[in-house]
Amino acid sequence: MEIIIQPTPDAASIIAARIIAQLVRSKPDCVIGLATGSTPIATYNELIRLHREEGLDFSNVTTFNLDEYVGLPPEHPQSYHAFMQEHLFRHINVSSKRIHIPNGMAKDVAGECARYEYAIRAAGGIDLQLLGIGSDGHIGFNEPTSSLASRTRIKTLTERTREDNARFFNGDLGQVPMHCITMGVGTIMECHQVLILAFGAKKAQAIAEAVEGPITAMNPASILQMHAVAKVLMDEPAAGSLRKRDYYRYVWENKPTWQRV
Ligand code: PGA
Repeated sequence: MEIIIQPTPDAASIIAARIIAQLVRSKPDCVIGLATGSTPIATYNELIRLHREEGLDFSNVTTFNLDEYVGLPPEHPQSYHAFMQEHLFRHINVSSKRIHIPNGMAKDVAGECARYEYAIRAAGGIDLQLLGIGSDGHIGFNEPTSSLASRTRIKTLTERTREDNARFFNGDLGQVPMHCITMGVGTIMECHQVLILAFGAKKAQAIAEAVEGPITAMNPASILQMHAVAKVLMDEPAAGSLRKRDYYRYVWENKPTWQRV
């Protein structure tokens, strides 16, 4: 794993957006995995700026989102369909026919999950997957004890995740869906490159366990230690519990010029 500690969430997000922009420029028909939640918003804002001011062209890019709530229609303001439109898609020139988000209203949930896996394969796999991390170490909505080999499927959200996300539902826990469809940990592990973003002290323990702890389904993000190209971008508070944080800073500061982003 490459650990990149930055002074602020904005500084880390600019690096994440630059890595994504480099991919889009070098492979205009790339496949990008996208995430929702508070964490990726600044990265999306920077991608929108690069599109508007520097002509970053998304017209041939294909996207796959990690997850969606079961039971929320796409037009529901808290659905991840709506989130993506608001925070990214309507501001850039991505083609609607190349956007993929699990259908949380599918009657045949298992069939929808199999269809999603098939669509990822048919697109040639995901070149880069953007991830947040839950305060419990989840990636996508793969909660602790998720199989590290899992594929896209239905999951029951933990109480902690529902409480964490209640802020998007006016703090009303009763409104937060109980189930979701999420890419599996195995699905995420097949992406060619993974970028994980983590901001704030609330993520410090999950990050320390994911980066420096043993690989365990109790912290699904820890499996990314086995991924060949995983970059973990964070601000100082999220890095607060890392034992080797001075080493990670030293590595970043001494990166060969040709490797810099
Ligand atoms: P957050 O969620 O960005 O809203 O903190 C991260 C996640 O649950 O993956």
